[in-house]
Amino acid sequence: MDETQRERFEQIYLRNQTPVMQSVERCVFGCDYGATSWANREEADRLVALLELAPGVRLLDVGAGSGWPGLYMAGASGCDIVLVDVPLAGLRIAAERAVRDNLPGECWVAAADGAKLPFGDASFDAISHSDVLCCLVEKRAVLESCRQVIRPGGRMVFSVIYVEPGLSPGEHRRAVDAGPPFVETETEYPALLADTGWKVRDERDMTEEFATAVLQKLQAEKGQRDELESLIGAADFSDLHKSLELRYRAAADRILRRSLFVTVPA
Ligand SMILES: C[S@@+](CC[C@H](N)C(=O)[O-])C[C@H]1O[C@@H](n2cnc3c(N)ncnc32)[C@H](O)[C@@H]1O
Repeated sequence: MDETQRERFEQIYLRNQTPVMQSVERCVFGCDYGATSWANREEADRLVALLELAPGVRLLDVGAGSGWPGLYMAGASGCDIVLVDVPLAGLRIAAERAVRDNLPGECWVAAADGAKLPFGDASFDAISHSDVLCCLVEKRAVLESCRQVIRPGGRMVFSVIYVEPGLSPGEHRRAVDAGPPFVETETEYPALLADTGWKVRDERDMTEEFATAVLQKLQAEKGQRDELESLIGAADFSDLHKSLELRYRAAADRILRRSLFVTVPA
């Protein structure tokens, strides 16, 4: 992760702890961890079930941000959890929240690159990452590194935003401009997963839920316009809203897609 991206996420994680941002997050996602992915509470509950989380299961959440949805899943299931990300501001918030929530299982927080996970082979029963691969360049290396640390019979479930394949150059550009910073892929995810030693058990299309969440965020933020403008300034508020509107239109037109992949080691 380069410095610009790290600083951008550091700022977002700090800002997301303010009361106004927490109120928007509760309204749109049903949580207040400082989420930057598009996973809502229903999706987090689905992840708990798909990953078969329970006391004694060890979960790795890659690109864990400030603890969403990893800490929530650990609290709901009683599993042990390791949170990994690069921006320290997010990890500090997550570590404090883990203590405050008095989680039933063990919780560790590590500053590490998801492309070079600092764990032994087969260390984890379950792996999750929410909209992380679309925020980094080294998608293949992250999937390979995850493959190395999952135990035989373990599972990895993750969401990712991507550009609908086969679009005209103009529509492709519109989807890329509306997506997260590294939304483009040289290889589509099913092929990339096969190349990196993963078998896809299921791919759930979450595009409609994604479009709904973007629209809800737009509406919730408009409702808090004055507070948000005093937090980030009128110009930044307007820029953020223009990009959210582009994102909503691209998702509603299904040129920007979001999927939840359920995978196991091949
Ligand atoms: C969309 S955010 C999701 C964060 C959090 N899981 C959530 O749902 O709010 C993507 C996260 O991926 C992290 N990330 C990007 N590149 C990474 C890398 N090479 N290794 C680990 N994490 C990375 C970012 O720092 C960011 O926190």
